[in-house]
Amino acid sequence: MSTLITNIGELVTNALGPVGAEAARTGPGGFTALSDAALVIDDGRIAWTGQTGHAPAADERVDAAGRVVMPGFVDSHAHLIFAGERGDEFAARMAGVPYSAGGIRSTVAATRAASDAELGANLRRLAGEMLAQGITTFECKSGYGLSVADEARSVALATEITPEVTYLGAHVVPPEFESDPAGYVDLVCGPMLKACAPHSRWVDVFCERGAFDADQARAVLAAGRAAGLEPRLHANQLGHGPGVQVAVEAGAASADHCTYLSDADVDALAASETVATLLPGVEFSTRQPYPDARRLLDARVTVAIATDCNPGSCFTSSMAFCVALAVREMRMTTREAIWAATAGGARALRREDVGHLGLGAAADLVMLNAPSHAYLAYRPGVPLVASVWRAGHLAWQA
Ligand code: NIG
Ligand code: FE
Repeated sequence: MSTLITNIGELVTNALGPVGAEAARTGPGGFTALSDAALVIDDGRIAWTGQTGHAPAADERVDAAGRVVMPGFVDSHAHLIFAGERGDEFAARMAGVPYSAGGIRSTVAATRAASDAELGANLRRLAGEMLAQGITTFECKSGYGLSVADEARSVALATEITPEVTYLGAHVVPPEFESDPAGYVDLVCGPMLKACAPHSRWVDVFCERGAFDADQARAVLAAGRAAGLEPRLHANQLGHGPGVQVAVEAGAASADHCTYLSDADVDALAASETVATLLPGVEFSTRQPYPDARRLLDARVTVAIATDCNPGSCFTSSMAFCVALAVREMRMTTREAIWAATAGGARALRREDVGHLGLGAAADLVMLNAPSHAYLAYRPGVPLVASVWRAGHLAWQA
């Protein structure tokens, strides 16, 4: 079954381009778009793109009526397995209470008390929210269970809805290990990892004051790697620290947050294959200074944007909102921001099949009720997503 989408006002394709250090050198120049374009989907993949007048015939025809078609968003950082909410903590923060890693523990208590059915329902609800807002690939972290059984069920639930599952046993030290953090790191590197590895692709650590230090992060990433998991890292969110250097040393796919960076951190990222994943919804929701995206882009670091959807530091599932923040608050161009939220996210997940609409790519795409990709930032807060296809099938429609 083939589908022709024709009369596309702007077709954002993003050139596939090289991954890793080479991509880091060429930077996000990979934003490419065609006007007055058409696209053919065959067997769930992109089979043709070009000018409307030259499009081949297909079994089915969709008229885009001048609207945008773009790759589905690739959200490379989200924490969707939890119970409860922290609206009061947000309200207190807006009244002046600073954000700290400690709030995570209240979500841990709620998550441990929830049934599998409750956790699964919350996860599916959030995944549905994401789909309706154009996210077609998302990563999902554990990290609110923090016991062997609760982390294992978290990754097992996540693996039912995404292949990009991250084991984050090292999110914070849970209360029962308050006086024995080393014992907790041993658990994370030992029995907990053993229980979670079969359901996970990635291993992550919250490397930050109040969470885990550089040596603990190195130990967890090394143990994860030995169990077949690829590293990624929460780094430099709340202050300057060793996170980015640890991520680069470990060959992590991504260093996430990157809010407080030294020149050496920027240089290390630029010389590496590690993507800098920026999460501007967090700075919005914690009232912190935004990361300096221009400094990273000017240094030719590969930049991704992700939602970090979680109940504490940023409870949004809207990539469009994050794109608007990236443009307005971090001075990314609209093209850079769209690239970072699609192809950049794909780089951060080491995926070549998503984030672009080159030949053979997954037919994961979004049609916007807008004539240009810039509307995602130009019309902030407006639900512009008209339809979403995943693997060539219409998965959501307004
Ligand atoms: O990415 N930084 C660590 N983890 C989350 C916050 C989790 C929470 O506050 O519950 C983050 O911001
Ligand atoms: Fe996070």
